[in-house]
Amino acid sequence: MIVLESPLDMHLHLRDGEMLKKVAPLSSKEFAGALIMPNLIPPVTTKKRVVEYKEEIEQITKKDHFTPYMTLFFKSNYDLEFLKSVKEEILAIKLYPSGVTTNSQEGVKEFDKLAPTLEAMSELGIVLAVHGESNGFVMEREREFLKVYEEIAKNFPNLKIVMEHITTKDSVELLGKFDNLFATITIHHLYLTLDDLAGGLLRPHLFCKPILKTPKDKEALQEVALSGYEKVMFGSDSAPHPREKKEAPGCAAGVFNAPVALSALAQLFAKKGKEENLQKFVSTNAQKIYNIKPPKKVVKLVNELFKVPNEYEGVVPLFANEALEWRVESVV
Ligand code: DOR
Ligand code: ZN
Repeated sequence: MIVLESPLDMHLHLRDGEMLKKVAPLSSKEFAGALIMPNLIPPVTTKKRVVEYKEEIEQITKKDHFTPYMTLFFKSNYDLEFLKSVKEEILAIKLYPSGVTTNSQEGVKEFDKLAPTLEAMSELGIVLAVHGESNGFVMEREREFLKVYEEIAKNFPNLKIVMEHITTKDSVELLGKFDNLFATITIHHLYLTLDDLAGGLLRPHLFCKPILKTPKDKEALQEVALSGYEKVMFGSDSAPHPREKKEAPGCAAGVFNAPVALSALAQLFAKKGKEENLQKFVSTNAQKIYNIKPPKKVVKLVNELFKVPNEYEGVVPLFANEALEWRVESVV
């Protein structure tokens, strides 16, 4: 048996409207809290929208002891006064370079204009969460972005920066070079490589940004996650799209893994004999990095088959129709 206390998902897309109603309970049932991404249409850029979105999520998840930790979509016109007014409502601000992923068009185009907002965030202790990809060749985008991380980490030593969903060995290595750099890692990047997506018949449900990488990258991610390294935390990047948007000529990017998250993590950590580090990866590290106290929730997983459904109301999960070796037995 594996027992987890207050598991946290520090990178989650819940969407809004009907999709929110479908997917939020699948996270709130098993997780004690999650960092909620702001890339809605239009993106979450005002205090009013953060508060409304939070209330919408709470309404749907209220029976579950689940804290939605909110984020704002980074704009370089946020000033100190605005940030002071919104600080209590958010845990981080998420920066997207323009055009690199789903609903990021309104993201940053001019990286030389970030300083005043980053200075204000640093002063107020607001975490900067970043989708770190350039607009270059798809397999090199994360690597090309590392110089931006270095620059920000160096210029704003008191700003906590989370490199979201890191996927390469180079990113793992950069993490160790600056005290103020942290990272999240997804399940799909821990389990899969580009071969799983496109090595045989194309599997659109595995298409995501950043794209799946090489076996060497996957090994580096596994090594750092399994070690329980304190600068790394679990962020699922669970990103639901309706089946018809995935099984289409222009396939939307995003892997929907929330309903299999804890089973898949338990399976990986158990297989590698690192069960004792899963609590750190899935909760303790995040609590320290973000200085949060999530609601108490005890999740017990047992070493029994979990047959993953084919879909959840029109949304296809990671490992659909496959069996995982661990299942959630109880949540108290
Ligand atoms: O694959 C992805 N899907 N990557 C992201 O960064 C965003 C996400 C989404 O919102 O669908
Ligand atoms: Zn994401």
